[in-house]
Amino acid sequence: MTLTTINELEFPQSLLDALRQARHVVVFTGAGVSAESGIPTFRDESGYWGDVDPEDFATRAGFRRDPALVWGWYESRRKQVMRSQPNPAHIAIARLARYIEQLTVVTQNIDDLHERAGCAEVLHLHGSFFAPRCFACARPYSKPLDSPDLVSSEPRQEPPRCARCNGRIRPGVVWFGEQLQREMYQPAQRAAQKCDVLFSIGTSSLIYPAASLPFETAARGIPVVQVNPSATDLDAKAKFNLRGQAGDIMPRLLAAAWPDAGEG
Ligand code: OAD
Repeated sequence: MTLTTINELEFPQSLLDALRQARHVVVFTGAGVSAESGIPTFRDESGYWGDVDPEDFATRAGFRRDPALVWGWYESRRKQVMRSQPNPAHIAIARLARYIEQLTVVTQNIDDLHERAGCAEVLHLHGSFFAPRCFACARPYSKPLDSPDLVSSEPRQEPPRCARCNGRIRPGVVWFGEQLQREMYQPAQRAAQKCDVLFSIGTSSLIYPAASLPFETAARGIPVVQVNPSATDLDAKAKFNLRGQAGDIMPRLLAAAWPDAGEG
């Protein structure tokens, strides 16, 4: 296995060739891809989990204990996302679709910045801010507020009630101890196993089963390209470790592989 760590401006020819020859590319992302849009990550210095305890904010038990605290936290994060814009990494990822026959974007993020950058289909392994549902009967909530001016950032907010069973509405995200949705995870796994190149961008590669995808790809001998300013467990398995910020590296990489990529 060639292990290449690239700090300089040039990308290796073998990486550019692999990209140009690829028919199917998977882009797997984590919180770091949205960091340059102003959205905090989880485990970096100013990440969410340094501030709040995931046991309280990202488990069913936490929601049962204090639904207003949990709903308020997700609503204020949702408001922040709605006020944020896709950054150059999201845009470069969406542009890849112009050059690759099949692009599968798989994200652990619950924001909609890939979609707003122009990705037609995104597999959201950990759910979405925009798909709340009933905690009791799982019916989708029909009316999440869709303007950031209407969404409150109060730390405590009583969740709305389900029109069918009057249960509390919960955020549409996957919490610790919950299963990933099969209709998201299975296609992601299939894509990761049969693609020609997989990017792992802005994730600490710590939360399973999502984190297993790039490892499964690498185990099949398919090149994995990691984009991250910090080292992760994936370093040893990635064929290319591109050290730096995704918003800097991804547009440069695209332009290096396809010189017209910066246009339009
Ligand atoms: P983490 O906070 O664990 O990791 C973020 C990663 O992004 C780190 O490895 C950073 O070095 C990297 N990073 C930071 N800024 C970056 C930038 N500008 N460009 C590229 N990389 C950058 O976030 P995730 O790996 O997404 O799950 O965390 C996985 C899951 O753990 C989340 O989906 C969430 C969390 O608990 C749930 O809430 C279920």
